Amino acid sequence: MDKIIVEGGRRLEGDVRISGAKNAALPILTSALLADGQSTYTNVPDLRDIRSIKELLKTLGAQIKCDGNTVKIDGSGLNNHEAPYDLVRKMRASILVLGPLVARLKKARVSLPGGCAIGARPINLHLKGLEQLGAKITLEHGYVEAVAEKLIGNEIYCDVVTVTGTENLMMAAVLAEGETVIRNAAREPEIVALADVLRDMGAKIQGDGTSIITIEGVEKLNPVEAGIIPDRIETGTFMVAAALTKGDINILDCEPDHLGATINKMKLAGIDIRISGKTIRVKGNGEIQSVDIKTQPYPGFPTDMQAQVMVLMSVASGLSIISETIFENRFIHVSELKRLGADITVSGNSAMIKGNPGGLSGAPVMATDLRASASLILAGLVAKGQTTIDRVYHLDRGYDAIEKKFSALGAAIKRIKA
Ligand code: EPU
Repeated sequence: MDKIIVEGGRRLEGDVRISGAKNAALPILTSALLADGQSTYTNVPDLRDIRSIKELLKTLGAQIKCDGNTVKIDGSGLNNHEAPYDLVRKMRASILVLGPLVARLKKARVSLPGGCAIGARPINLHLKGLEQLGAKITLEHGYVEAVAEKLIGNEIYCDVVTVTGTENLMMAAVLAEGETVIRNAAREPEIVALADVLRDMGAKIQGDGTSIITIEGVEKLNPVEAGIIPDRIETGTFMVAAALTKGDINILDCEPDHLGATINKMKLAGIDIRISGKTIRVKGNGEIQSVDIKTQPYPGFPTDMQAQVMVLMSVASGLSIISETIFENRFIHVSELKRLGADITVSGNSAMIKGNPGGLSGAPVMATDLRASASLILAGLVAKGQTTIDRVYHLDRGYDAIEKKFSALGAAIKRIKA
């Protein structure tokens, strides 16, 4: 397995360009299954999760051509309704094929994703919503089977705000008969990005970006040309890197509007952040002040930035409390950060961080999930001496060329191939 070695203490400066968003690209590429004909997507990030979804779509019968960051997907050949365990276990977001398969083929057999490092992550709300649209759901031999003579629009209320759940239900409802209303829908920018693409395909969707989404089903959708929005979590990760290393980074091609909570908290921590169009300039000057953070569904503070800001709070002045309200086990990075000298105490869903400017020192650590891995690189950038991060395949799932981007900003970072 590849490792990443970081020599801490370098000030990062320069420009970095943000890639397309993983969590927008995954549902959007999947939505190609909803149309007969070839759709073209640009600004698709080069990630392991994107390769996994392409492999799955091919298995289902789609034809795929790639040229750099452009991906063409033709859903005309869709003929297989089964997403096998071997592909789904590589990536939970494979569940996103469930909605489109039921919408197009009226049947789906998708391996249950199971839990993962950060929580149990059930899909009960995806299934309940599909049932309300008229699908018959059975669970057998580790697979979800959904069958529907036809899908009929309905009122759906999600007990919990779910991002991929909302996306799955949107992709099923666009081809259902009549009107579907999804209440307590997720409001993430990735939901709006998917709705924009579906609308360009001919879908009738209103209210995306609010907690009530209304969809009037249509008979068929057309192929589309669409660009993937910038990755807000990659953007936030580079913002934290600039602040931590007392650097000066221009983050280009990003969408500052999608980072309201992150920008606000970092400004409160005393970091100099300037926005100009699609560029965010972050200067890490003086002391970092402690701030309390609570993760919440968008527009709240993103759980996908929690591990990264914990590193920032580890070298801040004062005490901060970070509460994780989305996933029940998303503090797995804490024990690794402690190996680097961070003073963190976890109690239930809260972590108390006693900040210590200059307090981290390099050590060998293990990546445990995607965002935890990013936090370890950030910690390595500011720690004294060398940090070796093992199991970086987690990182490759969601960060496009991360060590190259950090190197170009002046970091001493290298990958050791297995
Ligand atoms: N939940 C249920 N039942 C469901 C669905 C979700 O109880 O049927 C619960 C989950 O267990 C969790 C909460 O609802 O406690 C929110 O989960 P959600 O369904 O929103 O998460 P997701 O759709 O599986 C997406 C992102 C995650 C991100 C979360 C939260 C994608 C492909 N993944 O996951 O991204 O953390 O939303 O914002 O969009 C990452 O990129 O590192 C990542 C984990």
